[in-house]
Amino acid sequence: MSKAIISSICLLLVVFVPVIDGRIARLGDGANGGVDCAVCSIVLGLVDKLSIVYNTSIVNSLERLCSILPGEYKVYCKVAVDFLGPYIVDGFIKGDNPDVICHSLKLCHDTPGQPKCRIYPTNSGISIPERAKNLRERHPLVNLLLMKSKICDFPGIKEICKILENVFNNHLPLVDLDHDKFGVETTLRGSSWRGKDCDDASAKVHPGARVANSDSIIDHNCNGIFGMDSATGLAWEDKFCNDSQRLGIAVLGDSISAHFHIPEQWLDAREFSEAAFEHLGFILENELDWPQMSASTGHVNVSWPNIEGPVRSLYSRLFELDHCNHRDYQNIAVNGARSGAMLDIMKSLSRDPQNDVPLLVIYSLVGNDVCNGHPDTFDHMTTVEEMRQNVYNALERLDTVLPKGSHVVTTGLANGSMLYDLLHNHIHPFGRVGVPLTYPQMYDYLSCLQISPCNGWLTSNATLRDLTTQHAVALSAAVRNASLSYQSRNYDIDYLDFPFDAVIQEWVAQGGQPWQIIESVDGFHINQYGHALVSDVLWAWLQKEKPHWLPSVNPHNADIERVFKDQGGY
Ligand SMILES: *[C@@H]1O[C@H](CO)[C@@H](O)[C@H](O)[C@H]1NC(C)=O
Ligand SMILES: *[C@@H]1O[C@H](CO)[C@@H](O)[C@H](O)[C@H]1NC(C)=O
Ligand SMILES: *[C@@H]1O[C@H](CO)[C@@H](O)[C@H](O)[C@H]1NC(C)=O
Ligand SMILES: *[C@@H]1O[C@H](CO)[C@@H](O)[C@H](O)[C@H]1NC(C)=O
Ligand SMILES: *[C@@H]1O[C@H](CO)[C@@H](O)[C@H](O)[C@H]1NC(C)=O
Ligand SMILES: *[C@@H]1O[C@H](CO)[C@@H](O)[C@H](O)[C@H]1NC(C)=O
Repeated sequence: MSKAIISSICLLLVVFVPVIDGRIARLGDGANGGVDCAVCSIVLGLVDKLSIVYNTSIVNSLERLCSILPGEYKVYCKVAVDFLGPYIVDGFIKGDNPDVICHSLKLCHDTPGQPKCRIYPTNSGISIPERAKNLRERHPLVNLLLMKSKICDFPGIKEICKILENVFNNHLPLVDLDHDKFGVETTLRGSSWRGKDCDDASAKVHPGARVANSDSIIDHNCNGIFGMDSATGLAWEDKFCNDSQRLGIAVLGDSISAHFHIPEQWLDAREFSEAAFEHLGFILENELDWPQMSASTGHVNVSWPNIEGPVRSLYSRLFELDHCNHRDYQNIAVNGARSGAMLDIMKSLSRDPQNDVPLLVIYSLVGNDVCNGHPDTFDHMTTVEEMRQNVYNALERLDTVLPKGSHVVTTGLANGSMLYDLLHNHIHPFGRVGVPLTYPQMYDYLSCLQISPCNGWLTSNATLRDLTTQHAVALSAAVRNASLSYQSRNYDIDYLDFPFDAVIQEWVAQGGQPWQIIESVDGFHINQYGHALVSDVLWAWLQKEKPHWLPSVNPHNADIERVFKDQGGY
C-alpha cells in the first residue's frame, strides 16, 4: 500500500508545502484531519481504483502496490500492509468507501458546525462516523493503536515520513566536503540544482570561479577546460576562453522555478507500473522538483516515463553561446517560498564578489505571497509594504555577494485566475477511473480540509479569485517599485511582469490548447512544455531589451567540443 501512500504524500506536499513555506515539519496542519485525512483518502481511493482497473481483490491491489515499489520503500510498505491490510480489506468488503475507512482510522473527522469533507459521494443509509465506529469495533487491536491517530505514527509509514522530512528540510548539498555549496552527488541539492563540483576537497574550485594560473593544471571553474596545448604551449583556457565574457545563471524562486512535478502515473490507477516508480527515490530526493529540466537551469534530457516535453533553458542558451560557461548554474528555489522566507533561503546562493565571474540572477516569486490554505486567506497574504521591503532587502543582500558586472531580473506574480479558467471542466487524473473527480471538486475537498495550496485561486468562487489576483497585481507593483528604486552598486537590474500571457499565446500559436501547459496532478504549476516556453519568452525578452547583458558567441565552441567532448558532463 505504501507506494500509494507515498504518491499521496507527494500529492499532498503540493498542498502543505506552500502552506508552510517549504517545511514538512507541520504534517497534519489543516482541519478535519487535514493532510493526514487527505493522504489516507487518496491512497485508499487508489487502492480501490487499482482493483477496478485490474479486476482483482483489494488484497491483490495492496500487494501490487508494495511489489512495484523500489528498495526500502517496498519493505516499509509491507510492514504497513501487514498491519493495516486486513482492516482495510474488511472495510472495503463491507462496502465502506475510503472516507469511511479513514474516519475509522481517526485520520479524518467531522467538526461540528463545519462543512464535512468527503472525496467520494456519500452512500445513503448509515452515516460515515457511525460506519467508521462499526469498523473500528470489529478490530480491537488496531483500535488500540488509534489512540495516536497521526499517519506518521503508523508502522511502516513512520519510516517513510522520516525519509521525507530529512529531504524536505534541507536546501544545501548534503554531500559537500569543502563547504563551497557545490557537491558531487546529483540529488539532495547536488548537481541537479547547482553545477557539479569538480574538486570537493577545495573550496576554491567550483563552478563560476575565476580562472587562476590559466587553469593550466587545475580546472578552478569546473567548466571542463584545463591543461596545456602541447602544440602551441598555450593553456587551453587562455586559448578558448580568454576573449569570452563569462556569465553564470542563478534563480531565486519558488516551486515554479524549482519545477515541481508529480508524475501523473502515480495517481492514475490505469498507469501504475514498476517503471512509473523506478525513480521514486531520486524524485523524492529532489523534493519532487525537476530543476535539471527547468526554464532557468535545465541542462539534461531525461527519458523517464515520468515526464514529457522538451528541455530549453536560460542556462543551456548561455552554454550554447559560450561553452566556457559550462556548469555555471544555481537553482536556489524552494517549494512554497514567499518573499519573507526567501531572505533566508538566498543565503544558500554561492557567489564571491572578487573570485567569481558575474552572474545573471532571476528573482521570481510568483504566488506564495498570496497563496495559503487558511479560510481567512486574505489575512495571511503578504502586505504590499512587506513585499516591497522584502524585495528591497533581498536586493541589498545581492549587492554583497554578486561580482561587479552582474545582472538581476525580478518578476511579478503570476495571474492565478487563469488556472481555474483553464482547468475547471477537466477531470483530475485521480478521477479518471471509477467515480470521476473534477478539478473544482478536488479544490473544494482540499479547501474543506484547509490544506489547499491556494484558497484564493483554486476555488469556484469567482469573487475570491478576482480579489486574489487584484492583490497579486498590487504585490507585483511592489516588486517593481523596489526593483526600480533600489540603487544597486554591483549589478544592473530590471523588472518584468511574469509572462504567463505571452507563454500561452506562444503555445496557442504552435497549435496547442492552453490547459496543456499546466501540471495535471496539482493543477497549479506549469509543466515541462510550459517551462520550455517560459525560457523562450524570457530569452526573447533578454535579447530584445538587454542585448548588452548577453555574452557574444565564443568562436572556439567547436574547438572546445573537439578537445574536451562533453566537458565532464553534469
Ligand atoms: C472480473 O473477474 C471476475 C471473477 O474473476 C470475472 O467473472 C469477470 O468476468 C471479470 N470482469 C472483467 C471485466 O474482466
Ligand atoms: C589570456 O589572458 C591572460 C591573462 O590576462 C594572458 O596572460 C594571456 O596571454 C592571454 N592569452 C591569450 C592567448 O590571449
Ligand atoms: C535534448 O534533446 C534535444 C533533442 O534531441 C537536443 O536538441 C537538446 O540539445 C538536448 N538538450 C540537452 C540539455 O541535452
Ligand atoms: C487574469 O486572468 C483572467 C482570465 O483568466 C482575466 O480575466 C483577468 O483580466 C486577468 N487579470 C490580470 C490583472 O491580468
Ligand atoms: C466568495 O468570496 C468572497 C470573498 O472572500 C466572499 O465574500 C463570498 O461570501 C464568497 N461567496 C461564497 C458563495 O462563498
Ligand atoms: C515607489 O513607491 C514610492 C511610494 O509610493 C513612490 O514615491 C516612488 O516613486 C515609487 N518608485 C518607483 C520607481 O515606482
